[in-house]
Amino acid sequence: MELRKIIDINSDYEYLFDQYNKIKNSKYNQYFHIEPLTGLLNDPNGFSYHNGKWVLFYQWYPFGPFHGQKHWYMTESTDLVKFENKGVGLIPEEEFENFGAYSGTALSTNGDLNIFYTANYRDEENIRRPKQVLAKLNGVVEDKKIIIDTNYDYTEHQRDPSIYFNNDDKNYYIFLGAQTKNLKGCILLYKSSNLNDWDFLGEIKIEGYDDFGYMWECPSFTKIDGNDVLFFSPQGLETKNYTLENKDNNGYIVGEMDFEKLVFKPKSEFIQLDRGFEFYAAQTASDSNNTYLISWLGLPDIDTISDRIRSNSSLSLVRKLNIRENKVIQSPVSIDKYLSSKVNIEKECYIETKPMKLELKNSNKDFKIRIYSKKFQENSGLILSYKNDILELNRTNMDNLFNDKDRNIRNISLELKNLEIYIDSTSIEIFLNDGEYSLTSRILPSNDERYLYITSNDDIEISYSLINKIENNFII
Ligand code: FRU
Repeated sequence: MELRKIIDINSDYEYLFDQYNKIKNSKYNQYFHIEPLTGLLNDPNGFSYHNGKWVLFYQWYPFGPFHGQKHWYMTESTDLVKFENKGVGLIPEEEFENFGAYSGTALSTNGDLNIFYTANYRDEENIRRPKQVLAKLNGVVEDKKIIIDTNYDYTEHQRDPSIYFNNDDKNYYIFLGAQTKNLKGCILLYKSSNLNDWDFLGEIKIEGYDDFGYMWECPSFTKIDGNDVLFFSPQGLETKNYTLENKDNNGYIVGEMDFEKLVFKPKSEFIQLDRGFEFYAAQTASDSNNTYLISWLGLPDIDTISDRIRSNSSLSLVRKLNIRENKVIQSPVSIDKYLSSKVNIEKECYIETKPMKLELKNSNKDFKIRIYSKKFQENSGLILSYKNDILELNRTNMDNLFNDKDRNIRNISLELKNLEIYIDSTSIEIFLNDGEYSLTSRILPSNDERYLYITSNDDIEISYSLINKIENNFII
């Protein structure tokens, strides 16, 4: 296994094309979610609105379905559903990024796309000395320059710069995920008036969060509907009242950021972004109207789908964000133009599971939906049920279990008003009450797990539409 290999577009083209062809017709390929041409993807990177288009990169190891030398792969979109492949965007070819180009964000200024990322550098003794880099997108990401050197007051875990322009004081800020020497997660703040020269301001104080996991990865700071929102992925939290049940969890705090005092004053508690199984490293991007979020449908250091089928790592759907009562509401971006016509179902349904959007209106009635279920087999497939005001997502009965050190059941107690489910070949995203909650899960249906059963003792209003496959090209 050659982990430190970087792409040479010419000499690697055939090898990668061959790898791609081996998985091209797999039934496990996603229909409407981003996945890599070869190898493995993880965090979304550099998500931004630039020169009239959405730009999105992701962490990519091209040569196999495991975490190797990280590159950034580039895509572009106009509708936030179809992301067109653009080829490798960032190759870790400098000495200072000898162990990969790690995650980061982007900011569009006067026609330039400024890319901020972590150069995962290891010295001669193999010790991590991470550095933060500014580069420009010019077809590919180039003109790399170290803007923030290793901070020796913190451990070697310092990464994933989130860039933010503060309209109030006209300065740029970088929120950097880090770990204190007492092994606690935190965020460091850096400031610049020109994007090139950066001052370290200190650690952000968030009352009640001094001891909240051992590392905070992938911060993403933004304003939504007039509120400051700090998204991050803390590692090592304890499970609490049926929340935070994943090995690592991604969430946010709504609050107020005081850039002078370095204080983020919470208006909400830390709220898990998604109550399903695999959802991590989410990143936001805004145009002049809205803020959107996309995440990795995976988690660090777990047994993944990729290990099983040599591919199929994936990103989430893009979700539009709003704030309601200090909570982030997530509505998936419309995929209407990729849908076939709507079919209404009365009460019960037995059909084949295909990539589709399923909607339930007036769904405060009890029901049970078995997705990718076995024929006439009651306890099979992925089961979504609602009874006595508890919604349960249960994947314990599926033939292929993975990430199974975590409990394979998730519950939410709520009065359900409506439900939208997006089923793809190896993932499912569920939105409750117009985006008040979401639950996401990777799945790997076996050949026998093919049917969709919906049952209820009441009249429920259900409809579904098949989703057309979004094709993409092999571009390295
Ligand atoms: C989160 C993460 C980041 C890092 C990247 C490396 O999944 O560990 O902290 O930058 O992945 O691929």
